[in-house]
Amino acid sequence: MRISSLGLCVLLPVVTAYSNQVPLGEYLPETTQSPDYYQFKWPIRRVAIIGAGVGGLIAYRELTETGYDVHLYERDDSPGGNWHYSEETPVDTPIPSVDVTIGDYVPSLPPRGAALPYVEEYDDPVENESRKRAHRAPKPIWDSLTSNAPAPVQQIRELPWPAGTPWALPNRKLQRYLRAFASWHGLNNNDNNPNVSYNTRVELIEKRYDADGKEAGWSLTLKELISTNNNKLRATWVNEDFDAVVIATGRYNAPNVPKIPGLKELAERFPEYLVHSRQYRVPEPYQDQTVLIVGAGTSGGEIARDIIKHAKKVYQSIRPETFPIPERPQGIFLSRIPHNVSIVGEIKQFITKGSQLSEGLVELSNGTVLTGIDRIIFATGYRYTYPFLPQYHNSSLGINDHAAPGEAQPIVTDGTHLRSLYLDAFYIPDPTLTFINANFGMQSFTYAEFLSLAIAKIWSGKADFPSTATLWKKYAEVYKERRGYGRHFQFLGAVRTREGLRFFQGWLNDAAVKYGGKQIDGLPKDTAEVSAVWIRARFGANGNYGINAVDVGRLSAAGFNTTGFEDVSIDGTESWAQDLVYNDYW
Ligand SMILES: Cc1cc2nc3c(=O)[nH]c(=O)nc-3n(C[C@H](O)[C@H](O)[C@H](O)COP(=O)(O)OP(=O)(O)OC[C@H]3O[C@@H](n4cnc5c(N)ncnc54)[C@H](O)[C@@H]3O)c2cc1C
Ligand SMILES: NC(=O)c1ccc[n+]([C@@H]2O[C@H](COP(=O)([O-])OP(=O)(O)OC[C@H]3O[C@@H](n4cnc5c(N)ncnc54)[C@H](OP(=O)(O)O)[C@@H]3O)[C@@H](O)[C@H]2O)c1
Ligand SMILES: *[C@@H]1O[C@H](CO)[C@@H](O)[C@H](O)[C@H]1NC(C)=O
Ligand SMILES: *[C@@H]1O[C@H](CO)[C@@H](O)[C@H](O)[C@H]1NC(C)=O
Ligand SMILES: *[C@@H]1O[C@H](CO)[C@@H](O)[C@H](O)[C@H]1NC(C)=O
Ligand SMILES: *[C@@H]1O[C@H](CO)[C@@H](O)[C@H](O)[C@H]1NC(C)=O
Ligand SMILES: *[C@@H]1O[C@H](CO)[C@@H](O)[C@H](O)[C@H]1NC(C)=O
Ligand SMILES: *[C@@H]1O[C@H](CO)[C@@H](O)[C@H](O)[C@H]1NC(C)=O
Repeated sequence: MRISSLGLCVLLPVVTAYSNQVPLGEYLPETTQSPDYYQFKWPIRRVAIIGAGVGGLIAYRELTETGYDVHLYERDDSPGGNWHYSEETPVDTPIPSVDVTIGDYVPSLPPRGAALPYVEEYDDPVENESRKRAHRAPKPIWDSLTSNAPAPVQQIRELPWPAGTPWALPNRKLQRYLRAFASWHGLNNNDNNPNVSYNTRVELIEKRYDADGKEAGWSLTLKELISTNNNKLRATWVNEDFDAVVIATGRYNAPNVPKIPGLKELAERFPEYLVHSRQYRVPEPYQDQTVLIVGAGTSGGEIARDIIKHAKKVYQSIRPETFPIPERPQGIFLSRIPHNVSIVGEIKQFITKGSQLSEGLVELSNGTVLTGIDRIIFATGYRYTYPFLPQYHNSSLGINDHAAPGEAQPIVTDGTHLRSLYLDAFYIPDPTLTFINANFGMQSFTYAEFLSLAIAKIWSGKADFPSTATLWKKYAEVYKERRGYGRHFQFLGAVRTREGLRFFQGWLNDAAVKYGGKQIDGLPKDTAEVSAVWIRARFGANGNYGINAVDVGRLSAAGFNTTGFEDVSIDGTESWAQDLVYNDYW
C-alpha cells in the first residue's frame, strides 16, 4: 500500500476549530500606519543576534551586508551551535521536566540595583567547572552522530561542500564547516571581532522605553563567563540596547522528559543512571548493561544502534503516534532500530525497590512488567523555550486556549509549539523581535538564508510587510490550516518547505524590483532526487543489521494496531520519505 498524504489527512481527528479569540485588529496602530503596510515605530540600525549556529551566522552575513550595525552573542566558546561536539555533558536534566518557563536555565542576573558592568569571581574547584558547563551548555549530540540529511542538501549555498564529500557528514566535519564559514565572515572566536561575543549568554531581553514612555527598542542583559589568568572564573554582566533582535538559539536546548508515575522518585534515588539523550556521548558505559530507551524518534533510534553492540539487552519503549501532521507511517523510525532491540509499548509507571535501579519494576501499559533494568535513556525530545523572554511565556494557557485580546500574546505556552509569529519568524505585536529556524522539518542550512534576507529587507523598508491586522488575519488562516496547536504546529516538511521557499523567493525578488537590493535564487532542481536516493540508502536497503522498511511484526508485538501498514515499503519518493530527509527532521 502506498500512503498518500491526502489519504491520511482524511483520517485525522478534527482539532478544535479556530475560535474568534485570536485578537484581530486589536493591535492596529492608531494614526500613522498606512492601512496596507506595517510602519516600524523606530528606525532600525543596531541589531542583536543571539546564537552562533548556522542560523545566527547566516543572519549576521545578511544583516551586515544590508548595512546594519550587528552584534552577535553566543554562550558557547566557539561557533557551530548544535554541531559543536564535546565530551562534556550538560550539567543536569530535570527528570521529569520542570515548568517550561524555566527551560534549560534560570536567568542569572546581577543583584538588583547593582551598577553595571558588575563582576563576580569564583575559584571553587568543583563549582567552577559546572558553572562553566551550565553557562555554555554542551550540545545534544554524540560521538558517532552523522547528519541524516545528505551533504548536497545540508549546505550553505555560499560554501558548497568540496566535490567528493561523502554524503553522511560526521558531526566534527559539520562543525569545522561552520567554523570555516564563520572565519570567512570574520566571526570565529579567534578573529577578535569586536561585534562578536563568545562565552556570553543572554539572560534577559526587555522592551526599552524613551523619556516619553514610548516603546523604543530592546535592552539585553548579558553575562560573560571566562577563565582569568590567575585560574579563576570571572562573570561580567552588562546591558546593551538594540533596535531589533534576531533569536537564533536553536530548538534543542530544553529536554522534554514525560511525567510518568514513579519517575521522580526513581530519578531522585538513582540520578546517575537516568539520562536524557542530550547527555548521551559514547556507548562504552553501557557495556553489558540492560538498557531501557524511552522514545523512538531519531535520537532514540540512532542511540539504540550505537549501544546495541555493547549492551547486554536493550528495550525500546514506543507509543502510538500522537503527531497528527505530518503524514507518515506509524513507526517509520523503527526501520533504523536494530533487529535485536526489544520493542515494548508505553510505560505506565516505575516502581522503586531495593538499593539498585535494577531491583525496581517498569510496568508497561499492557500490564507486562520489565525487571533488571540497569540504565534508562529518555530520548523523548525537546521543548521550545526562551528563558530570556519570560514575559512571552504563559504556561497556564491550555493547548488551544488563546490569550484575550489586549492581553500579552505569549510565544511559548506548553513548549510544544510557538505562537503569535508570522511565518514562524516575526512576533506579530512587535516584528522587531524575530526568530530564525523556529520551524522543524525544513533544512536549517538553506531556510535560514531566506528568513534572514526577509528580516534584513523588512527592517530596512526594502520589502513590504503587512499591517498588524493583516498579520493576525493570516495567522488565523495558518492556525486553521495546521489544525490547532501542538507539536506539529511548526512542522513544515518537504512540500511546505518548497512552497515556503518559493513564497520567499517571489516576495523578496518582487521587493528587489520595487526597492532595489539583493535577489535570491531558488533551490537546485535535483534536491528531490538527491533525497530519494539517500532515503533508499538509509532506510530501504539492507543495512548493517538487516533492516528493511517498516517491520510490522515488531509493532504488533508491542501491542499496536498495524492495520494499513502491512505492506508499506520505502522507495524514497513518497512525500513522508522526502520529509525525513529534505529536512532537519533529522
Ligand atoms: C541530535 C541532533 C541531530 C541533528 N541532526 C541534524 C541533521 O542531521 N541535519 C540537520 O539539518 N539538522 C539536524 N539537527 C538539527 C540542528 O539543530 C540543525 O542542523 C541546526 O543546528 C540548527 O541551527 P540553528 O542555528 O538554528 O541552531 P543551533 O545550531 O542549535 O544554534 C543555536 C546557538 O544558540 C546558542 N544559544 C542558545 N541560547 C543562548 C543564549 N541564551 N545566549 C547566547 N547564545 C545562546 C547555542 O549555544 C547555540 O550555539 C539535529 C539536532 C539534534 C539535536
Ligand atoms: N542526525 C541524526 O542522526 C539525528 C539524531 C538524533 C536526532 N536528530 C534530530 O534532532 C531532533 C530531535 O529528535 P529527537 O529524536 O531527540 O526528538 P523527537 O523527534 O521529538 O522524538 C522524541 C520521541 O519520543 C517520543 N516520546 C515522548 N514521550 C514518550 C513516552 N512517554 N513514551 C514513549 N515515547 C515517548 C515521542 O513520541 P510522541 O510523538 O508520541 O510524543 C517522539 O517520537 C530532530 O530534528 C531529529 O531529526 C538527528
Ligand atoms: C563592527 O561593526 C562596526 C559597526 O557596524 C563596523 O564598522 C565594523 O567594521 C565591524 N567590525 C568588524 C570586524 O566586522
Ligand atoms: C577552577 O578552580 C580551581 C581551584 O581554584 C583551579 O585550579 C582551576 O583552574 C579552575 N578552573 C577554571 C576553568 O577556572
Ligand atoms: C545485536 O546484533 C548485532 C549484530 O547483528 C551484534 O553485534 C550485537 O552484539 C547484538 N546485540 C545484542 C544485545 O544482542
Ligand atoms: C496567562 O494567560 C491567562 C489567560 O489569558 C491570563 O489570565 C494570565 O494573566 C496570563 N499570564 C501572564 C503571565 O501573562
Ligand atoms: C505486552 O507488551 C509486551 C512487550 O511488548 C509483550 O511481550 C506482551 O506480549 C504484551 N502483552 C499483552 C497481553 O499484549
Ligand atoms: C485498527 O485500525 C483500523 C484502521 O484504523 C480500524 O478499522 C480497526 O478497527 C482497528 N482495530 C482495533 C482492534 O482497534
